[in-house]
Amino acid sequence: MSVRINPSILSADFVNMERDLGVIASADYAHVDVMDNHFVPNLTFGPQMVRRIQDVSPIPLDIHLMIENPERWAPAYAEIGAFSVTFHAESTSEPVALARRLRDIGARAGLAVKPGTPIEPYLELLDEFDQILVMTVEPGFGGQSFIADVMPKLDALAAANARLGRDVWLQVDGGITLDTIVIAAEHGANTFVAGSSVYNTPDRDDAILNLRHAAEKASGHHHAG
Ligand code: DX5
Ligand code: ZN
Repeated sequence: MSVRINPSILSADFVNMERDLGVIASADYAHVDVMDNHFVPNLTFGPQMVRRIQDVSPIPLDIHLMIENPERWAPAYAEIGAFSVTFHAESTSEPVALARRLRDIGARAGLAVKPGTPIEPYLELLDEFDQILVMTVEPGFGGQSFIADVMPKLDALAAANARLGRDVWLQVDGGITLDTIVIAAEHGANTFVAGSSVYNTPDRDDAILNLRHAAEKASGHHHAG
């Protein structure tokens, strides 16, 4: 089973962003955390910076919008040419309309849920999305500990994928290490965001490869349905 490893550039050196994008070229996608200091108590960057990141990144961008009013901002990231744009379920009452807009522009559409948000209301919307992001920490900061309590959401999503014959990517983000990636993969996750565990390791290629091998091995132990 194929897995995706998406390093989070939240743990990069922001004044050496081009260099720090270059060192994750062996990963699948660069995970880009956009925070507005309203939806989460932290602030990163907006479309102007992400356009330059897109210009210089050796791998496609996986945008994670932790912002209010995604209807206003998300399409701009799709227009920049991002591979996928993921917005939070908690920040919109019209997730389907926004997902369709993103797909029309040519991006993959993703829906994210915070640890306390139930997944059941969204299972019936699975066809409208290319990726579901199950947050494994409270969004806002890197370097937090993995919350294993959310694993039943992955079980439910993996079962829904199997039932519908779909392959909506199941992404986890927050506290992903060589140990926790195994837990998430055993529950059906196949797309893994890792910030500090990649950037705080001297050899980033090594960190990415080790995460990939751990996830691939554990995926073999997951049986959907
Ligand atoms: C947190 C961000 C994550 C963050 C993960 O709100 O969405 O992408 O960078 O960092 P680690 O892997 O250090 O938990
Ligand atoms: Zn993220």
